[in-house]
Amino acid sequence: MLAYMSSKTAINAMTVLFAKELQDTPIKINSADPGYTATDLNGHTGYRTVEQGASIVVKLATLPSDGPSGGFFDENGVIPW
Ligand SMILES: NC(=O)c1ccc[n+]([C@@H]2O[C@H](COP(=O)([O-])OP(=O)(O)OC[C@H]3O[C@@H](n4cnc5c(N)ncnc54)[C@H](OP(=O)(O)O)[C@@H]3O)[C@@H](O)[C@H]2O)c1
Repeated sequence: MLAYMSSKTAINAMTVLFAKELQDTPIKINSADPGYTATDLNGHTGYRTVEQGASIVVKLATLPSDGPSGGFFDENGVIPW
C-alpha cells in the first residue's frame, strides 16, 4: 500500500499544481474518490457498483463554468487531505 498511497498523494499535489497553472483558463482540474467500488482493482470486493463509483467522475467532468478547480471530491463533497 506504500506505493499506492504515495501515488494518490502525488495525484492530489498534481491536481493543485495544474489547477493553479490553469487558473486563468476555462479548464478545471479536480480529483475524485469513487469510494470502495467493485472492480478488478480489489477483486470485485467493493460494496459500491461501478455506476455509483463513476457518478462523482461524471459530476466533475460536467461542472458549470463557475464550478470548483483544484479540489478532491467524493459524492458528498470536498474531502480534506
Ligand atoms: N475500486 C476502488 O474501490 C477505488 C477506490 C478509490 C480509488 N480508486 C481509483 O480509481 C482508479 C480506477 O480504478 P479501478 O477500480 O477502476 O481499477 P481497475 O478496474 O483495476 O482499472 C484500472 C484501469 O487502469 C488501466 N491501467 C492500468 N495500468 C495502466 C497503464 N500502465 N497504462 C494505462 N492504463 C493502465 C487498466 O487498463 P487495462 O484494463 O487495459 O489493464 C484499467 O482500465 C484508480 O486510480 C484507483 O486507484 C478505486
